[in-house]
Amino acid sequence: MSKKFLGILLATAMVAGTLVGCGSTAAPATTEAPAAEAPAAEAEAPAAEEAAAPAAAGGKVGVAMPTKDLQRWNQDGANMEKELKAAGYEVDLQFASNDVQQQVSQIENMINGGCSVLVIASIDGDSLGTVLAQAKEKNIPVIAYDRLIMNTDAVSYYATFDNYMVGTKQGEYIRDQLKLDTEAGPFNIELTTGDPGDNNAKFFFNGAMDVLNPYIEEGKLVVKSGQTKFDECATAEWSSANAQSRAENILSSFYADGSNLDAWMCSNDSTAQGIVAALDANYSGTWPIVTGQDCDIVSVKNMIAGKQSMSIFKDTRTLASQVVKMVGQILAGETVEVNDTTTYDNGTGVIPSFLCEPVFADINNYKELLIDSGYYTEDQLQ
Ligand code: GAL
Repeated sequence: MSKKFLGILLATAMVAGTLVGCGSTAAPATTEAPAAEAPAAEAEAPAAEEAAAPAAAGGKVGVAMPTKDLQRWNQDGANMEKELKAAGYEVDLQFASNDVQQQVSQIENMINGGCSVLVIASIDGDSLGTVLAQAKEKNIPVIAYDRLIMNTDAVSYYATFDNYMVGTKQGEYIRDQLKLDTEAGPFNIELTTGDPGDNNAKFFFNGAMDVLNPYIEEGKLVVKSGQTKFDECATAEWSSANAQSRAENILSSFYADGSNLDAWMCSNDSTAQGIVAALDANYSGTWPIVTGQDCDIVSVKNMIAGKQSMSIFKDTRTLASQVVKMVGQILAGETVEVNDTTTYDNGTGVIPSFLCEPVFADINNYKELLIDSGYYTEDQLQ
């Protein structure tokens, strides 16, 4: 079969696979996450209607996800696998239990196992330089998935959501709910962000703090713990338990005197779940605003219960579809679609990126966003 005909066949299959993926309506059988962190059980992606016919094999794609312990990565991995297979690719999907060395070994196996493209959501963005030098040597393109991989020239593209915008939406929500531009205050606030090895966390935190800092500087927002620097507010592995224990220390040290807490800015849902657990056990004042991101099932239930105020919906089906499209464009030697060529410098230069749009979610719109779109079923949120 001529290369040209194979390319046309593959491109056709790609379009069919991607359209089907984007149009998926059936809900994912996502395993409900218990209180703190999602179990290891595989979460199924939204079931895309079966592609008309499996296309000719388009080669093998390595998909490296950080962990199964946080709900969203189960969905990301399952979505990617489903859409890549529907587009005719063989898939090597691996989860690394947040163990950097395990992820490095998995990537090494992908490189030596015949993968034509690597799609990687790194655990620690600064830990893959050595292993990805091997990919570069073999001319294997790398797409950084959702988390930018740092300080290596082996990364070809980055696909994510607008991470700075996630943070500004969280900061603006707190500003608007507390009416910081009209109320006198002062209001008490605490801050929790994510893993210091995750480049995204800095974008989330900076996005929120660029909104909130002016009010902190004028004394209208007061951080009683005094912890306002990124490293002071970071949470190893985005772990709910780690977020909870830091919050318990803050509450017992600074709020046991009956001080009211008006807001807790959390950069994502797994940390927000830790804050909610700490508040439930250690705080008796008026319930504060609690922000989040990812629309995890546990956090949507907390929103319905009034324990978490908002989240950010990042439809993992959208991101998976975009990455599958980019894989096809790379392998077909076509121009790869990106929409940001200035923001994400990984230390070796700006990485061409495709940013999907994050969407504000709260009690008022979660049904339309999550149930009507087939992302979750009503039952999953009971
Ligand atoms: C980030 C991701 C967020 C958040 C966190 C924990 O990199 O962009 O959606 O959930 O990881 O998984």
